[in-house]
Amino acid sequence: MAVGLFDTRTPLAPLREEIAAAIERVVASGSYILGPEVSAFEAEFAGYCGASHAVGVANGTDAITIALRAMGVGPGDEVVVPSFTFYASAEAIPPTGATPVFCDIDPVTYCVSTETVRAALTPRTKAVIVVHLFGNVAPVAEIEALGVPVLEDAAQAAGSTSAAGRPGALGTAATWSYFPSKNLGCYGDGGMITTSDEGIAERARTLRFHGSHDKVTYELVGYNSRLDELQAAILRVQLPHLDAWADGRRAAGRHYEEAGLGELVRLPQPTDGSQPAWHLYVVGHPDVARLESALAAAEIGHKAYYRTPIHRQAAMRAWGAGVELPGTEEAARTHLAIPMSPVLTQAQADQVVAAARAARV
Ligand SMILES: Cc1ncc(COP(=O)(O)O)c(C=O)c1O
Repeated sequence: MAVGLFDTRTPLAPLREEIAAAIERVVASGSYILGPEVSAFEAEFAGYCGASHAVGVANGTDAITIALRAMGVGPGDEVVVPSFTFYASAEAIPPTGATPVFCDIDPVTYCVSTETVRAALTPRTKAVIVVHLFGNVAPVAEIEALGVPVLEDAAQAAGSTSAAGRPGALGTAATWSYFPSKNLGCYGDGGMITTSDEGIAERARTLRFHGSHDKVTYELVGYNSRLDELQAAILRVQLPHLDAWADGRRAAGRHYEEAGLGELVRLPQPTDGSQPAWHLYVVGHPDVARLESALAAAEIGHKAYYRTPIHRQAAMRAWGAGVELPGTEEAARTHLAIPMSPVLTQAQADQVVAAARAARV
């Protein structure tokens, strides 16, 4: 592969010894579940986001289900969610007993807007899941001003910033994934819920632990869903580097601009006032198949992540049939992720752009 879609190894290489020492510390301690590493990382990550609480869970999908339940979502409720996002954003809703209601996105920013959310609200709407897709930061405060609590799905937005602050502290609660390819990734599965609402944090802590405080008495039907000590220790080594990696991702975006990519495709556009730490660098082109074959011929990594939006997936038929989302369809048809990492060089960006230019896409 001339330029890979991701590079997760190079940024972590200088941290290998420190991470190995952190792993050894946990192994030597004999404490693997809900111990001091998880507590410390929860405090550090909450502080990073500017939220009062963080609750470590097993992955970003459980984080959404647990956060929604902690926010009081249950049977009979509706939860508004975009259809142009990773499947888990919507998949996490039915296990709460609530119904997903799909809303559209702005195909320029790939994020929901107040207008697209407003169009999906009904008297049964209990919450809105706002996805900071590809690292762009959706307008959370404006959407919450519509009078409905917002759960930020921030799985792709670690390191991003906005005029209102960092994702994770913009809405009622937020969820994170530490899947290895994410901007902040662990060595397996991991997730987090951040919130400044004490009641939500407390319910989330109970839900992740079988609905219990002591594993003897059970107040809720919950989950066995915890971030483990090893992953927390690994994440603690990485967190101080997240902002530098985010700067690297933004620099990579500038390399593409300097190489003239904007003459060939629609560049990703930050929402007003945001500085995205591009998790995926997703460009748009009306004849995207030509761009795909040009990049494939030059062995440049590329991927269409959401060609079939969620509301048209078979598993979502009960809630997605008949839903019409023109912005979503346009984004689904025209988007393509091209290489992005904190260490993507100008030379690599030049190579990607030359491949696209050679095919005169
Ligand atoms: C937007 C979004 N939401 C939710 C998830 C689910 O996270 P996980 O894979 O950790 O369950 C992911 C990533 O995988 C994601 O990209």
